Amino acid sequence: MPERGDILELTVESTGFEGTSIARHDGMVIFVEGAVAGDVVRAQIFKSKKKHLEAKVVEVLLASPTRTQPRCKYFGTCGGCKWQHVQYESQLAFKRQHVIDALERIGGFKGVNVLPIVASKEIYFYRNKLEFSFGDQKWLTSEEMTLRPPPSVGGEGAFALGFHVPQRYDKILDINECHLQSDLSNGILNAVRKFAIDNSLPVYTSEPQSGYLRNLIIREGKNTGDVMVNLVTFNDRPAEMEKLTSILTKAFPEIITVVNNITSKRANVAVGEIEKVYYGSGVISEKIGAHVFHLSANSFLQTNTRQAETLYAITKEYAELKLTDVVYDLYCGTGAISIYISDAVKQVVGIELIESSIANARMNAAQNGITNCEFIAGDLKDLLTKDVEWKKNYAKPDVLIVDPPRSGMHPKAVKEIGEMKIPRVVYVSCNPATLARDLQMLAPFGYSIEKVQPVDMFPHTYHIESAVRLGLTRSGGFS
Ligand SMILES: C[S@@+](CC[C@H](N)C(=O)[O-])C[C@H]1O[C@@H](n2cnc3c(N)ncnc32)[C@H](O)[C@@H]1O
Repeated sequence: MPERGDILELTVESTGFEGTSIARHDGMVIFVEGAVAGDVVRAQIFKSKKKHLEAKVVEVLLASPTRTQPRCKYFGTCGGCKWQHVQYESQLAFKRQHVIDALERIGGFKGVNVLPIVASKEIYFYRNKLEFSFGDQKWLTSEEMTLRPPPSVGGEGAFALGFHVPQRYDKILDINECHLQSDLSNGILNAVRKFAIDNSLPVYTSEPQSGYLRNLIIREGKNTGDVMVNLVTFNDRPAEMEKLTSILTKAFPEIITVVNNITSKRANVAVGEIEKVYYGSGVISEKIGAHVFHLSANSFLQTNTRQAETLYAITKEYAELKLTDVVYDLYCGTGAISIYISDAVKQVVGIELIESSIANARMNAAQNGITNCEFIAGDLKDLLTKDVEWKKNYAKPDVLIVDPPRSGMHPKAVKEIGEMKIPRVVYVSCNPATLARDLQMLAPFGYSIEKVQPVDMFPHTYHIESAVRLGLTRSGGFS
């Protein structure tokens, strides 16, 4: 049995759950980081479990034909883009197959009509939002470690602004450029780092709670050019914020607003209990289709604007909307789908758990002059099963659109939807596994899968979004 530290020659056979590369050694499964199916590599074991081992590539002996040169210098250390070394066409093929496999293995659906995946128009610079973290324990790449010892916590050279290293939540990889947003965003990132170092601003630490800097969030309207800088801090230091705001807005005229979210909470969530606006209105706009969305620092919007538009267009097409339709947009977030389809229907009723998202949804509808969308805040399973007063105000829906979080739908919500027997249902999913599970639960009520359209919203990651058109058959059961 190989042990931690051992180096093995491995042939990588396949790609498994969450995009991991799988090899075998004497019958033992080995997950190999940094490999691609088809590679022959030398890999070092770093974790040994009862049923599998985990290893990291140290040398590629024979490159898989699907391999490509990663663009990012942090590839392999940063946890963000695990698949930059895989050709985009192969990423897409894997993602589509992943949807097919989940439907088959988890849902029991064979021969489903899974259409060719819709590729992302941009495979770099596609995000409209990036969240960086400040840290006083800089993570050194293996190359850097050969040159110098790691700095002591909070000591000289320990300051970092970038991303958490996977499985090392205390360590931050200092990032000078990320290819997921834009060069402008990289410029802002580096200016904020310089300001923090020049002014000796302390990084927040949780044990004991002290310091100042927690997160930097840059939001960019991809279709408007608007830019927001949001500094998340532990306490309020107006003089520093004013100085930073002045430097940033002079250097980057694209910035239309600067805000400071202040939170004293221990939890590592980049949302303030207090928000102070230092420049502009605290809001940027983004356009999806014909509609403008006004985003404050903490409002939700799909992060790949252009692909969100593609996904919404497919959802709209799959719903086969009529001007007489009443549509329920379940898990509506800030109402993007409701607003997108509003011109094609009589009424949309959006339901969402988070109160602030509902407030945003109402504001977005109002600002777009839309009057046929109503939004209700609450837990969907409760609103469907026990807190049902609201139903008296609306007609039975002709169409359901459901877009749950990664965990999928609550079984009680699935059952209720099953019993509603709505002829047109579009299920939008960001997780093939929970999609397959929920569709399996819906099948006995007579819902069958007509078609599945995978859409790639997140190039270089294993994540995949799908829009599924369900039909209602009389008998029920698997199709
Ligand atoms: C994938 S997002 C929906 C995004 C939205 N359709 C859009 O395109 O912008 C899923 C949403 O479900 C909401 N949610 C999670 N659990 C919920 C629940 N139990 N009841 C209602 N909404 C819930 C989340 O707050 C989140 O906004």
